[in-house]
Amino acid sequence: MLSATLIFGALVLPVIAAPSVVFNVKRQVSQLRPSYDFIIAGGGTTGLTVADRLTQAFPKKTVLVVEYGEVEYAPGIFDPPLAVWGGIGASASYFIVQSQPIPDVKNASAFVLAGKVVGGSSAINGQFFDRPSRYDLDSWSSCSGRGRPGQSQWGWDDVYPFFKKSVNFTAPLAAVAQKYNFTWDSSVYGPGPIYSSFPPFLWADHHGVRDAWAEMGIPPRRECAGGDKDALCWIPISQDPVTARRSHAGIGHYTAVNASRPNYDLLVKHQVVRVVYPKGPQRGPPLVEIRSLADSTLRNLTAKAEVVIAAGAFHTPAILQRSGFGKKSILKDAGIDVVVDLPGVGSNFQDHSGSGVSWNYSKPGDWYPLPSAMADPAFLADAVAGFNEIPARGPYTLANSNSAIFVPLRNITTTSQTIIERIRSMIADGSAASYLPADYRSDASMVAGYNEQLSKIADLLSNPHAPSIESTFATGTSLRAVNLHPLSRGTVRLNLTDKLQVPVVQYGTGSNPVDFDIYAAHVKYLQRVTKTTALKQFGAAEVTPGPAVQTDAQLIEYIKSSMVLSFMHPCCTAAMLPRDKGGVVDADLRVHGAAGLRVADMSVLPYLPSSHLSSVAYAVGEKAADILVKTWR
Ligand SMILES: Cc1cc2nc3c(=O)[nH]c(=O)nc-3n(C[C@H](O)[C@H](O)[C@H](O)COP(=O)(O)OP(=O)(O)OC[C@H]3O[C@@H](n4cnc5c(N)ncnc54)[C@H](O)[C@@H]3O)c2cc1C
Ligand SMILES: *[C@@H]1O[C@H](CO)[C@@H](O)[C@H](O)[C@H]1NC(C)=O
Ligand SMILES: *[C@@H]1O[C@H](CO)[C@@H](O)[C@H](O)[C@H]1NC(C)=O
Ligand SMILES: *[C@@H]1O[C@H](CO)[C@@H](O)[C@H](O)[C@H]1NC(C)=O
Ligand SMILES: *[C@@H]1O[C@H](CO)[C@@H](O)[C@H](O)[C@H]1NC(C)=O
Ligand SMILES: *[C@@H]1O[C@H](CO)[C@@H](O)[C@H](O)[C@H]1NC(C)=O
Ligand SMILES: *[C@@H]1O[C@H](CO)[C@@H](O)[C@H](O)[C@H]1NC(C)=O
Ligand SMILES: *[C@@H]1O[C@H](CO)[C@@H](O)[C@H](O)[C@H]1NC(C)=O
Ligand SMILES: *[C@@H]1O[C@H](CO)[C@@H](O)[C@H](O)[C@H]1NC(C)=O
Repeated sequence: MLSATLIFGALVLPVIAAPSVVFNVKRQVSQLRPSYDFIIAGGGTTGLTVADRLTQAFPKKTVLVVEYGEVEYAPGIFDPPLAVWGGIGASASYFIVQSQPIPDVKNASAFVLAGKVVGGSSAINGQFFDRPSRYDLDSWSSCSGRGRPGQSQWGWDDVYPFFKKSVNFTAPLAAVAQKYNFTWDSSVYGPGPIYSSFPPFLWADHHGVRDAWAEMGIPPRRECAGGDKDALCWIPISQDPVTARRSHAGIGHYTAVNASRPNYDLLVKHQVVRVVYPKGPQRGPPLVEIRSLADSTLRNLTAKAEVVIAAGAFHTPAILQRSGFGKKSILKDAGIDVVVDLPGVGSNFQDHSGSGVSWNYSKPGDWYPLPSAMADPAFLADAVAGFNEIPARGPYTLANSNSAIFVPLRNITTTSQTIIERIRSMIADGSAASYLPADYRSDASMVAGYNEQLSKIADLLSNPHAPSIESTFATGTSLRAVNLHPLSRGTVRLNLTDKLQVPVVQYGTGSNPVDFDIYAAHVKYLQRVTKTTALKQFGAAEVTPGPAVQTDAQLIEYIKSSMVLSFMHPCCTAAMLPRDKGGVVDADLRVHGAAGLRVADMSVLPYLPSSHLSSVAYAVGEKAADILVKTWR
């Protein structure tokens, strides 16, 4: 149970309201200045990074962030229960997205959260703080038309300095490092405002699965955040190393700096409805129409320099569609005047997903403590006391997980070449497009962009150092396989009944059949774990898929019924690709066809990387700020 919640991060996280109004944020439009230089829509992971760096670089220019949520205290992923710890009640700090039924996985519906709080998803996430592989960034930047001369470059070498700039890594104490064999390389980090650290505690069964992975031939790597991560990795978490409290964008990029930034305004409890171009999209920046959540009044705000949309992969395409950016026929159905015909808006939707394995032990090891120890009142009391010590100690210093493997396809299966050839042939014979959602399959630019993405992903899957699977471990008797580079695509479209609501999300999971070949290869690979002597010595026996699952057809049935449909990494709905490839923003993050408007958040990724997304969001924010500073200096 506990391991499931720790590993999947798919639990509902309580966020308690701050005891009193601590921060002098703006709550009413009447408190705002008549106009701002920059307006940022969304005070989340990327948006606050941009706001922090802009206000730092330009003391004389004003920045307004408009955020839907509130300033709230955001507990870590595994903190003591609020009642035990003295919390004062939960409030809603996230949007809940329940997807449309997904046809290729038995009409199951994905359950996804997205931050609705100052700090965005970084304030509610699982705190797993890895980075992509260098090949992900290099693959994105190799897409045609990306990084033209005079535009920003987004290869690994171009973005790596921004990954570093975003975090302050604190090495564990020597005794802790020795006890758990943590390894790291401080030179790949910081110093930046978001904390990255290892907890001073692991559950007693943690090393068993690491030993099994090592026995499978996955080499341990000292540090996996330096671009090379095809390995058995130690993964730090986004957490203050001393207090063990969550580190997130709301703290690192707002409350830590606002006192010294009179030019940095944050308006909470307001929704950005749309941007408006009274004189046409060439005459920017646009007005920003916002709605008070208190009384629903609408107001137009004026930006003198630029508007940046940073509302996350669900809400950024919703704002763009309400503003008249999208596929013409879809906007017409929604009764919205077309400002720029951009079919990529809200298309190309992706998330990480995957099935897994579980087992039991007939001769379990002498492991203490395991999460079951939390049922012992004395152990629990000590865990709470330890959490409140400085430095904090004990189980409540943990977050999602600290170990993971990232393995290339050719190490996973002898059929990797067949899989790659299947992808290449569906591009060559034109059949790939038939797996796209109907409402953009007919668009030539989207089809061209999809074929190019598949070709780049086939290259990644052929690369002996680019991972295809991720699996993480904290404790327990199950492992999940994350399909790092899915081929299937979905959509994010306005809810036509109420266009201001959370948009309608259609996952494409499994619509491209090659994804099932990959899911199946991944599960078969993880089945090797229980066959290792590292786990056999404890009498490990596979429970799922289990001995009843023999044929490939049975395995795919098992996968369809057991898949985690969302690892909470929605992305790619306003992709940084050329317009004739279904892109929405260019390499300088400018929305195609519009002046004074950029997007900076996880919507701009062309396809998913081999990592969780918070580090990517911070790096995109740092890089976006750098681009804006160069433009306006
Ligand atoms: C439950 C969960 C667990 C996760 N676990 C991990 C993990 O362990 N490790 C990891 O690296 N990543 C994890 N992620 C992913 C990662 O945190 C996100 O991908 C990343 O933070 C997204 O950043 P963003 O800037 O794109 O959007 P967000 O950080 O979500 O910011 C968007 C902001 O815009 C605001 N907003 C939305 N609409 C409007 C509007 N119309 N007007 C004004 N404001 C608006 C939202 O309230 C929010 O604050 C997880 C995500 C979730 C939800
Ligand atoms: C910044 O936060 C401090 C509390 O740390 C508060 O006193 C101050 O008013 C805030 N300033 C702004 C501009 O929000
Ligand atoms: C999924 O739903 C559709 C539409 O309601 C239906 O036609 C189809 O049979 C369902 N598929 C399954 C496997 O239940
Ligand atoms: C740490 O590494 C040493 C040397 O490789 C090994 O002997 C020890 O068992 C390891 N400790 C754990 C907890 O795995
Ligand atoms: C990084 O974190 C450590 C530990 O909290 C702190 O001492 C140090 O000042 C921080 N460095 C920066 C640049 O923030
Ligand atoms: C993949 O296999 C190669 C060749 O056997 C090996 O050298 C490499 O370490 C393996 N990598 C991983 C991550 O398993
Ligand atoms: C914002 O400006 C547009 C264009 O001038 C106008 O149509 C719209 O009504 C304005 N909205 C508000 C709330 O004033
Ligand atoms: C482990 O699971 C298998 C398969 O479900 C079952 O047959 C066996 O009895 C279980 N063993 C233990 C020790 O629980
Ligand atoms: C669309 O909005 C309406 C009204 O709020 C709601 O009842 C409906 O469930 C929404 N549809 C989807 C698919 O979310």
